[in-house]
Amino acid sequence: MMILKYAVAVLALCFVALSFAEEPVPLSKKMASCGKCHMGKMALTGKPVEEILAGLVRIREGKRPHPPGLQAFEAEQLPEVAAILSGVNADESPR
Ligand code: HEC
Repeated sequence: MMILKYAVAVLALCFVALSFAEEPVPLSKKMASCGKCHMGKMALTGKPVEEILAGLVRIREGKRPHPPGLQAFEAEQLPEVAAILSGVNADESPR
């Protein structure tokens, strides 16, 4: 009986771990820290998405100095990050 209980507990833990692993870190969570600096005077809202995207890429390539944080994004997430910063879909982006 003990073994069965143990096995069930292990299975349950695996399930929990798996459901976490399958859930990618939401973009909003990765971007939560950006607001510390990019709100108010340094907000990028209204700046064209292409310009922000170009800035993001240059920062990630190390061609432009920036506080750490941008390495957390996947390359394919950058257009979305740029769009959010620009304010294009800030409202309809629940992620
Ligand atoms: C500690 C403060 C700080 C934090 C946190 C921060 N930034 Fe910045 N960011 C800056 C500064 C300062 C600049 C201006 C650098 C420059 O002008 O070369 C900048 C510039 C940028 C630019 C270029 C803007 C342009 O004019 O082209 C982008 C894009 C950007 N940040 C995105 C982000 C994102 C996304 C995050 C969150 C992951 C973030 N930043 C977090 C300080 C910060």
